[in-house]
Amino acid sequence: MKIAVASDHAGFILKQGIVAYLAENDIEHKDFGCGPGESVDYVDYGARAAEAVLNGQFERAILICGTGMGMSMVANKFRGIRATACWSEYTAEMSRRHNDSNCLTLGGRVIALPEALKIFQVWLKTEFDGGRHQRRIDKLKAIEDRNFVY
Ligand code: RB5
Repeated sequence: MKIAVASDHAGFILKQGIVAYLAENDIEHKDFGCGPGESVDYVDYGARAAEAVLNGQFERAILICGTGMGMSMVANKFRGIRATACWSEYTAEMSRRHNDSNCLTLGGRVIALPEALKIFQVWLKTEFDGGRHQRRIDKLKAIEDRNFVY
């Protein structure tokens, strides 16, 4: 599993902890920024990581801003990205089982590293349930294609 990672300044410290975890566990990843000590726009960094997933370089992304919400908004602008802002192990599990999330977003100002790592681990290992949930994903795709099926 190759993971694209990005944050803005508000997510930078939490991102450092996530990146350290990825390195310690030999999980292939790339940090698309931002770097330390700069105030940046989450849109720029979330977009870089989302594009890296869409062009096939990475399978999933983890994006961190202050709340997880801005990163979710930018990532979901990209066709094929299903970004979910998760704040608990339960939401992380359901984001995979029901939503087939390929982009986890977290809030560096609302979640501490130990909880973020638990969320990340659940999100990483949980499989998509498929079945009726695939039908719903297909409807999301139809909206992306402006081809409403209902
Ligand atoms: C930055 O101050 C903050 O607005 C940003 O990180 C994020 O929380 C936006 O959704």
